[in-house]
Amino acid sequence: MSRNEHLVSCEEEVESRKGVGREMVNRKGSKKILVAVTGASGMLYLQSFLRAIQDLDLVVHGICSEAGHKVLGLEKGLIPQELPAVTTWFNCRDFAAPPASGSSGYDAMLVLPCSMGTLAAIAAGISANLIQRCADVMLKERKDLVLVVRETPLNRTHLKNMLAAHDAGAIICPPMPGYYLQPASLEEAADTFSWRLADQIGLDIPGRRRWDAGESKC
Ligand SMILES: Cc1cc2nc3c(=O)[nH]c(=O)nc-3n(C[C@H](O)[C@H](O)[C@H](O)COP(=O)(O)O)c2cc1C
Repeated sequence: MSRNEHLVSCEEEVESRKGVGREMVNRKGSKKILVAVTGASGMLYLQSFLRAIQDLDLVVHGICSEAGHKVLGLEKGLIPQELPAVTTWFNCRDFAAPPASGSSGYDAMLVLPCSMGTLAAIAAGISANLIQRCADVMLKERKDLVLVVRETPLNRTHLKNMLAAHDAGAIICPPMPGYYLQPASLEEAADTFSWRLADQIGLDIPGRRRWDAGESKC
């Protein structure tokens, strides 16, 4: 790429962000959430969570890694912009995007789903793309960072990285539905996990079911 071409693409990038600044201004009382999509399996959970929060009073922004695009296409036949709830998607290679700075004021970030590669980077404090940089920012700002880690089986390095991320302040929240609520489909099972995820960042999902021992039948 020549220098001129680079300048033109930077100008296009700036142009495409016009208006984002206004949207970045949080309405009083509404939480600001960042959802990062990486290339792990489990896009069902991403879709379920975004559907569950779409009617809440929230500002939701997103970032999707290259592998995230690939797996979202393979598992759901979707591109990020077709998902509900997220109003702005930032380029994963754009380190100048607003959430790269602690001043952007996000209340919580979810990496949903979180690959072992991204987990490793977060655990090691590496900021090689915008998702990793934002996770690092959330930890330094002492804000909620929830990692929906997905791999099976787990090797020693995965386990060590989960502990390191946990010790740095992240919440390790693997996608494990609650079968005691007897979900009738994969989607219902995913919804039980989305409710748990929402609990982690203090969101109240309408219609959320909770365990009530009185309801249980033996
Ligand atoms: C269909 C598919 C499913 C994958 N599932 C997983 C997974 O569950 N967990 C994981 O750690 N990596 C998984 N990967 C590999 C990651 O996509 C790969 O390691 C990638 O480099 C992760 O990059 P990212 O963290 O920047 O998104 C999968 C890849 C493909 C194509």
